[in-house]
Amino acid sequence: MTPALAHLPHCGHPPILADLRFLRDTLGFLRRVHERRGPVTRIFVFGRPQVLALGAEANARTLFDRDDAFSAAGGWTPLLGELFPGGLILRDGADHRRHRRLMLPAFRRDRLGEHRRQMQPIIDAAIDDWLQRGQVEFHGCVKRLTLDIAARLFLGVRLQQEIDDVARDFIDLVQASAALVRYPLPGGAYRRGLQARGRLVRFLSARVAARRDGDGDDLFSLLCRERDDDGMHYTDAEVVDHMVFMLMAAHDTTTSALATVVMALGEQPQWQRRATEDDDANILREALRLYPPLPTIARMATREVELHGCRIPAGTRLIVAPLFVQRDPQWWTDPDRFDPERFGPARAEHRRHPAAWTPFGGGAHMCVGMNFAEMQVQAVLEALRARARWTVASGFRKDYAYLPIGRPRGGLPVRFDACSIG
Ligand code: HEM
Repeated sequence: MTPALAHLPHCGHPPILADLRFLRDTLGFLRRVHERRGPVTRIFVFGRPQVLALGAEANARTLFDRDDAFSAAGGWTPLLGELFPGGLILRDGADHRRHRRLMLPAFRRDRLGEHRRQMQPIIDAAIDDWLQRGQVEFHGCVKRLTLDIAARLFLGVRLQQEIDDVARDFIDLVQASAALVRYPLPGGAYRRGLQARGRLVRFLSARVAARRDGDGDDLFSLLCRERDDDGMHYTDAEVVDHMVFMLMAAHDTTTSALATVVMALGEQPQWQRRATEDDDANILREALRLYPPLPTIARMATREVELHGCRIPAGTRLIVAPLFVQRDPQWWTDPDRFDPERFGPARAEHRRHPAAWTPFGGGAHMCVGMNFAEMQVQAVLEALRARARWTVASGFRKDYAYLPIGRPRGGLPVRFDACSIG
């Protein structure tokens, strides 16, 4: 049953128009709602009544969730439940903790070196191609690169035909998760996504037994073999569900992060030459601050709570927005400017509030792939710096679509020129 929200201010946008405006100009929309109606408003968006909670307090309270008052499964199920059942984000409490514990060893920091070694030739081949072509549509190129990396490192798939099949199904599945019409109409994106999920599940299920018995070090093999303290491992169906969700969680997000780093450095080439490790880390942080791949996060209140002084009834679905807080002048100086030095020790603006910077979320559901994603962006950036200089092609008019996962609308034309190392 939908809880009563009439005591909360209305966001000021009727259904459908709210969807369109939210999707078209996400940051402007959030800022206007906040300015005109305050931090907590009711909104009818994505087919249901929800509460939009905008501010660092709302982010901290819902993400860190120290008293188990919010459910990630309750927030995400309407969007992802049918396409990604059993995914880690669709689990809560003890069940979530058990599944997450089993997954974490596969993401240990000491495995990153090996992952990086394996992805290097794939990255080098992609850069060869970009340099040879000179000007490329970078978002599409990097999507292809992250898919190749995922197919090999996550799934351990080697045959080009299999990589292509998996990639095609996977793209259909991700597109379905972003579809506005979430009903399997013939010929529709949602139906194609459900069919693609069926094929991916069959593909993975057919390989679980061999992965359990083998000694592969791809993520799929690691998850198949991992055991908890009681010697239990994931069932076949569980491991398949985790892999399908993980491919989704990893792919568009990492693509988005890589595209925005390259876009920012293409617009401000002086940063292409500043290459200390700290610079690189701050460049990525700044790109993720301005363009968090996941600009909003869904939750459901499991009991009555208070946010920014407003009463939120049990059962309320909430949208919180790292994007809004990461561009909030209350925490960030000149918040819309690309300025990696704000993360340096002298300014450390990200320390002004514990939830000022949350592109990877926080608390129990914080991204398990964070180190992996950072390593992958770092690997591409380092390889690019060593071999190329790049600019965003002239005539590019930045039109950024934040939702559902950040990307430059109409692609990102980038011109690459070879440079000698040094
Ligand atoms: C720049 C890249 C990435 C960003 C910005 C990102 C962002 C996020 C965020 C914000 C969440 C929390 C969602 C919530 O609390 O509702 C999350 C969760 C998750 N991410 Fe990532 N992610 C990235 C890359 C990856 C990669 C590479 C993987 C896997 C290899 C991954 C796997 C996951 C998983 C499994 C969860 C669910 C964790 C849980 O529920 O305990 N992500 N990610």
